[in-house]
Amino acid sequence: MNKPAGAYFFMNNCQMDYIIYSDGNKKGGWYMYTTMNIISASKGKQVHNHEFLGSTQFAEKGKERHNHRFAGVTGEAIPIGKGNHIHEFRTNTDFTGNHYHVLKGKTGPEIELPDGHHIHYVDTVTSFDDGHKHKAEFATLTVPRG
Ligand SMILES: [Fe+2]
Ligand SMILES: [Fe+2]
Repeated sequence: MNKPAGAYFFMNNCQMDYIIYSDGNKKGGWYMYTTMNIISASKGKQVHNHEFLGSTQFAEKGKERHNHRFAGVTGEAIPIGKGNHIHEFRTNTDFTGNHYHVLKGKTGPEIELPDGHHIHYVDTVTSFDDGHKHKAEFATLTVPRG
């Protein structure tokens, strides 16, 4: 493929969103990530991911007022230049009030911790289901740099 290094391509085949990107490193290579349990199409070794878990904010009023819990594991690190990276994630919330929501997106860049590990911050909104959506704000769990 003759595409600029570091570029991301978002595609949708009706069943699955996926992204093809190059990290611009000299070995070249293009990588494909789905947004659900991300696949690396590269021949290179796998790189780190993060566990995450949390609760959405509350939505609706009165007896309908509720929130949801969620957990998952992000995809592998996606380089964004200058040595920084992000991760994609996608999961479903629990089934509360006879419905669940999809929670998906990209984390922010790494936040370095004093012990050499790092986390990522996420501020997002769930899918719209049962007439509402929920805000969700969380940080991934830590892993060592790499
Ligand atoms: Fe809900
Ligand atoms: Fe990371």
